[in-house]
Amino acid sequence: MNYRHAFHAGGRADCIKHVVFVGLCRALTRKRKPLFVLDTHAGRGAYDLESEAARRTSEAETGIARLLSENAIELADYLGLVRAFSCGGRWYPGSPELARAVLREGDRLALCELHPEDAAALRQRYRHESCIQVHCRDGYEAVHALLPPPERRALILIDPPFEQPDEFEKIAATVDRGRQRFPTGVFCVWYPLKHRAPVRLFHADLLARRIPDILDIQITWREPVDPARLNGCGILLHNGPFGFSSSAETLLRAAAPAFSETDSSVTITRLADELAF
Ligand SMILES: C[S@@+](CC[C@H](N)C(=O)[O-])C[C@H]1O[C@@H](n2cnc3c(N)ncnc32)[C@H](O)[C@@H]1O
Repeated sequence: MNYRHAFHAGGRADCIKHVVFVGLCRALTRKRKPLFVLDTHAGRGAYDLESEAARRTSEAETGIARLLSENAIELADYLGLVRAFSCGGRWYPGSPELARAVLREGDRLALCELHPEDAAALRQRYRHESCIQVHCRDGYEAVHALLPPPERRALILIDPPFEQPDEFEKIAATVDRGRQRFPTGVFCVWYPLKHRAPVRLFHADLLARRIPDILDIQITWREPVDPARLNGCGILLHNGPFGFSSSAETLLRAAAPAFSETDSSVTITRLADELAF
């Protein structure tokens, strides 16, 4: 496990994931019933943007720093959460902290992280919070183990580091297994968009598994033709809340101008309808 999220926190792809994740958490907490959020690859929860790792890549400068300075009204909710957390711009919240900020009393958050140091950091951070459980375990395996939840409503964030060549296959198999255990769960998967070919195979795999109700959300800041570079990212939603497609489009179109380089685009595609199979 070489990947450390500290090098990428607050970068463009991280911000896009979090903008959508916050939007989803908000949409799912509109109903009064309790919600269970499972973050399968949680990271360490909070990131110091002045750390050596963050300075080495400077990813936050072209990510969260630009979004904060453009200050698009459509992103006010997410930006407000980031500002409230950041202590004057120094810290950036990970998905655990964003979920924690949005969840209500009675909701529950489970965080899986395989790297022992990051899992220990999460344990320390949430040691006094009884509604947040930290697991130092494989996040894919946890989808099987922790679903269905007693709350009967769940958002599952799958945000792996994409270090392994079979990461897309693992995700497709996990969503498939997860929805068989818990058919109403909302699955949100982040993926890198370097080149379109692996994403096409991923989509084909999901469809071959006859997974219905899939929305695919993509943003690029460069034409995705160089497999060695992160040219954009995608978020795949299974069982997303009603109307979320247009909310996602509004959010991403608001973020796109801050991130654009040579070629920027936002694409929202319904890959499979609710009753597709
Ligand atoms: C992209 S980062 C997560 C970032 C976090 N979700 C956020 O948005 O703030 C991916 C994390 O997954 C961890 N990881 C890698 N393989 C894992 C596995 N099989 N199960 C759980 N965590 C894993 C890595 O150590 C890394 O911290």
